[in-house]
Amino acid sequence: MGAQVWYHGVIHMSSNDETPRETQLDHTLRPHRWDEYVGQEHIKENLRVLITAARERSHTPEHTLLYGPPGLGKTTLAHLIAEELQAPLKATAGPVIERVGDLAAVLTNLEPGSVLFIDEIHRLNKSVEEVLYPAMEAGKLDIIIGKGPSARTIELALPPFTLIGATTRIGLISSPLRSRFSGGVFQLNFYSNAEIGTILKRSAAILSAEIDDDAVETIASRARKTPRTANYLLKRARDVAQLDRTPITKTVAEKALTMIGIDSAGLMPSDRKILTALIEKFNGGPVGLKTLAAASAEEEDTIEDVYEPYLLQEGFIERTPRGRTVTERARRHLGAQGQGALV
Ligand SMILES: Nc1ncnc2c1ncn2[C@@H]1O[C@H](COP(=O)(O)OP(=O)(O)O)[C@@H](O)[C@H]1O
Ligand SMILES: [Mg+2]
Repeated sequence: MGAQVWYHGVIHMSSNDETPRETQLDHTLRPHRWDEYVGQEHIKENLRVLITAARERSHTPEHTLLYGPPGLGKTTLAHLIAEELQAPLKATAGPVIERVGDLAAVLTNLEPGSVLFIDEIHRLNKSVEEVLYPAMEAGKLDIIIGKGPSARTIELALPPFTLIGATTRIGLISSPLRSRFSGGVFQLNFYSNAEIGTILKRSAAILSAEIDDDAVETIASRARKTPRTANYLLKRARDVAQLDRTPITKTVAEKALTMIGIDSAGLMPSDRKILTALIEKFNGGPVGLKTLAAASAEEEDTIEDVYEPYLLQEGFIERTPRGRTVTERARRHLGAQGQGALV
């Protein structure tokens, strides 16, 4: 039980509650060159064209929105874009920009040509968002001064900038905002096990951890197809290897995975809790998100952001108009595990 709580503290991956440890891990292992950024070829190709064409016109690249589950590489891409442009990067997040004045301060203080990264951009409030529109579209800021009949608008010209927005919830982005990302709206996909394997080998080298191919394969197959999770699991395996005075072998990797409750399909205790609730309390569904959240003691947002994308991708649940249903695969998997014995 202790292990599970500790595990949750570190890996609860919703992009808005990264712990300091997790942020530091991201930072150490974050790719700094395009050739270190594995996969997502479609996005890389589009960004390459966008950046090159803008450079030839001596213009800042157009605004771009990145979306996908936490830990797939959105923040990393924003940093790479800024590095490629040799432009300063200003990073902020939707919930941090509470007032119109906060946004005005950020925008007016940008150095010309900057990349402005707004993480969790779906959490901007409406009034802030409306000020962002003319800033994105025409590079200007409309500020209302005073109240009532004497109120007037002044217009400020902003330094040229490129906005990179990131979100785990594309469905919450309003269409006026979405349409202003003229550089493109890109979905990050889950990685193949081979891609995750490549990421693991690079990370192991950075951490000076010796790892064999079987261990890479074992961790890669259980990392939720997500680089951040893969790096996290690698670190736990490294800890076990260190205490056992051995390189990271398949046996070491399996021991670490078992310790933190990751099963043969890469499911975490919370995934199994959600599936078990669906099966035992709702006879497999369909059941609405709110009800499922209450029954599994998870936040609705966390289910939608973190757990569900992987469960859907791997065919453990399905979404129907009437709610979530569990699949035959999930029933078989949990049956084989002894009904969530690891929970
Ligand atoms: N394509 C990739 N290649 C290599 N490492 C990656 C890749 N994408 C993500 N990572 C690793 O995963 C960590 C989390 O990525 P991050 O960009 O913070 O994800 P997001 O912003 O989508 O939550 C990064 O620090 C990096 O180490
Ligand atoms: Mg991020």
